[in-house]
Amino acid sequence: MKLTVNEADVEVDDRHAKTPLHWVLRDVLGMHGTKFGCGVGYCAACTVLLDGKNTKSCQTAAERAVGKSIVTVEGASGSVVDAVRDAWYRGNVVQCGYCQPGQTLAAISLLESNPAPDAAQIALWMNGNLCRCGTYPRIKEAIRVAAETLASGVHPQPLTARPEPDLAPLSSEDLADPVRPYIQIKPDGTVLVFSSQLEMGQGAHTGLATIVAEELDADFDAIQVINAANGATPNGDVYGNLVGGGFQITGGSNGTRAFWARYRQVAAQARARLVGAASETWGVPPAEVEIDSGVVSHSSGKRANFAELAHIAEKMPIPDGVQPKDRSAYRVLGREGRLRVDTPGKILGTTQFTIDVSLPGMLTAIVLHPPRFGGKVASIDDRAALAEPGVRAVIPIDEGVAVVAETFPDAQRGLQALQVEWDDARAERRSSEELLREHHRLVESGERAVVARADGNIDDGFARATHTIDAFYELPYLAHAPMEPNNAVCRMREDSVLEVWAGTESPVYTQMVGSRIAGVDQQSVVVHVPDAGGSFGLHYSSGANDPASEALQIARALDWRYPIKVQCSREEEFKSGRYRAMAVHRVRAGADTNGMLTAYHQQMAAQPTSPNLPFVGDFLFKDGVDFMTVTGVVDNPYTFENFKVEATNVDAGVPIMVWRSVGNSHTEFARESALDELAIAAGRDPVDLRRELLVNNPRTLHALELAADRAGWGSPLPAGHARGIACTNYLSSSAQVVEISQDQRQRIHVERVVFALDCGIIVDPDLVRAQVEGGLLWGLGAAAWGEIVLGAGGDILTQNFDRYPVMRMQSIPKIEVHLIESTESPSGVGEVSVPTIAPALANAIFALTGSRIRRLPMSRTIQIY
Ligand code: FES
Ligand code: FES
Repeated sequence: MKLTVNEADVEVDDRHAKTPLHWVLRDVLGMHGTKFGCGVGYCAACTVLLDGKNTKSCQTAAERAVGKSIVTVEGASGSVVDAVRDAWYRGNVVQCGYCQPGQTLAAISLLESNPAPDAAQIALWMNGNLCRCGTYPRIKEAIRVAAETLASGVHPQPLTARPEPDLAPLSSEDLADPVRPYIQIKPDGTVLVFSSQLEMGQGAHTGLATIVAEELDADFDAIQVINAANGATPNGDVYGNLVGGGFQITGGSNGTRAFWARYRQVAAQARARLVGAASETWGVPPAEVEIDSGVVSHSSGKRANFAELAHIAEKMPIPDGVQPKDRSAYRVLGREGRLRVDTPGKILGTTQFTIDVSLPGMLTAIVLHPPRFGGKVASIDDRAALAEPGVRAVIPIDEGVAVVAETFPDAQRGLQALQVEWDDARAERRSSEELLREHHRLVESGERAVVARADGNIDDGFARATHTIDAFYELPYLAHAPMEPNNAVCRMREDSVLEVWAGTESPVYTQMVGSRIAGVDQQSVVVHVPDAGGSFGLHYSSGANDPASEALQIARALDWRYPIKVQCSREEEFKSGRYRAMAVHRVRAGADTNGMLTAYHQQMAAQPTSPNLPFVGDFLFKDGVDFMTVTGVVDNPYTFENFKVEATNVDAGVPIMVWRSVGNSHTEFARESALDELAIAAGRDPVDLRRELLVNNPRTLHALELAADRAGWGSPLPAGHARGIACTNYLSSSAQVVEISQDQRQRIHVERVVFALDCGIIVDPDLVRAQVEGGLLWGLGAAAWGEIVLGAGGDILTQNFDRYPVMRMQSIPKIEVHLIESTESPSGVGEVSVPTIAPALANAIFALTGSRIRRLPMSRTIQIY
């Protein structure tokens, strides 16, 4: 079979005639720019151009592409391509980047067929292309800009990407140095920054590049950032996150919070060394050496670039008392106009995600997980599976049964032919409705409830109340579903060093898992950390039900003879669980005749999350209280005189994991909905009630007032529109107002979200805005439609995007982000907009319809489009 790919004819074995073109490109031809997202036509991550038309390659048998022009992200070229890529780059569209090859090809196809699409046409055309990072508003704008560029006749330069550096592992001498584990200046002038934080779309690399550019006075464009521990270090200690128990962990939106001081200091030290090197070389006092945008100079006219001085600088002692700059001297930090450092490779499809790792002799495995959580293999009939071409082995492992094959489609066919009987003796057999009832029962009965916080006396408070509310709020299990389905690669080298590739948030934990499974010491395990195509908490741990653990078990079973890649299909990723916990809350609250809050009592039941977290589990689960369940209530922004929080840990067999905004994603839905209910019951304006309760929290109060003001809170709206508000001190101080409309079919559309945020000193305003936008769309999709459903007998029914609808372009609202100037240390932004979107929306729906939605997703009650 002959295919024409990027204008070149390639021969492909006829046995792949029925194989999806997608896997022929990726696994047979080794072209990894085309991404796998769902495999069944729901996401368009796999888009290629077939005779110029955007086409889902996972839905196209290779034989159907014979005689047609196949253009992939690697081969796309021309004026439309360059205009699109330039607009994408300059618009800072990209986050994790995994969906972007597909997005850009779809946009190219659109502009080829319609050079001047309007907003509705763009949204309609792009609606099939999912982006879990929520880059839709920027994609829309980039397409508009690209169309404008094309109309003007300007032809932007083709985008180019810097090659990935070829690195030797850091030596023990490097690791002992205060600067070299973090910043190295290469002979070509590249300032190489090792990021302690996994880049998974949140912009960690660009934030670090900004900090280093500022303190080192480097040329921003000369900075290249890579994930540390990508084989460069035998242990994670130098990258230890104090917020993560001293281990290298990315999570909790604490990348800037935890490492801001360290990277500023290290960059200042690196600068001092360059100054010292110039001083010594030129025989001038250090105080007379200047550095600006990567050029070192002296008033005598002497000049040098970093590369010329680097070999001397790296041996210079660091003078005592080197300090980062005073804020008044900032020239880069906090400024607008910075472009993300990780964008070009992600647009061009050259960034290597874990799914793209390909090693000589590597086999690919899919693990069939049990249909119910906790099920175990009872018996296997693997005869038909092993008879499938390309299938090499069938291996039972802790999590299920692995089909190991030469390519992913070979493994898929093997999986379909595999017969497995499951032993459900210890499986979770309850449906999600039964589990919800159990959560309810526990809240209502108070069984095993533990007091997480109690202030004043709620009984006294309720005795004084003349207005009360008593309401239950119900939230489902939720999946992360990042665009890059879960995967990992491992191999045992001939020198007995075990290598693992995983886009993990905790590489040291992956190292520990590797050490345990392979029976080698931890120092013999090297964890390479490719950028992750999203995570949202899914890649926090590498323990049970994680592909790294699965790949290691499979490789061990095959005596380490082959490098092994475990690639989840979307279905198997959903079946691995590790969801956001289901939760039921009851809030009772009272207000007196003046509408002043007198008592607040929140009870909840949820499976605990913290015990599943490496390193910090013990710290976060104390005296029977799981902080990750009660966060958002015990540490809420308000002053409640009489206040009580109680929680019951639910026993259930559903695997639970942190999920973008963790417990706040459910606790704050209950809290902010309940406050709205109380305000209305007491005849108060919801903003006024909150304003009063924020008396001791001026930063959240400011955010509340700013959001209300910019949204026109209290001003008239067109008929059929309404607003709702919510605020939080989660990670930073923020508030949002959601404006909705209802159409004649009673469907709700979110028209506009106004978000105000105080996150301390802002490293890069556009990165902050991007995270807020992405979080809002993430949270909005979850509030509207997100729900994992376990059917009768505990069967996992939600297995792909058909039953797990997520935000698409046609549903996005207009988003306005207002950032508050601050001199406080930076605080988190990656998750900050998630918890309050659901209550703000529920409050708006009540304001418009009089119907109070207390159960998520809202689509159970009302249609949202
Ligand atoms: S539509 Fe092809 S991978 Fe999702
Ligand atoms: S940038 Fe689209 S999924 Fe991450």
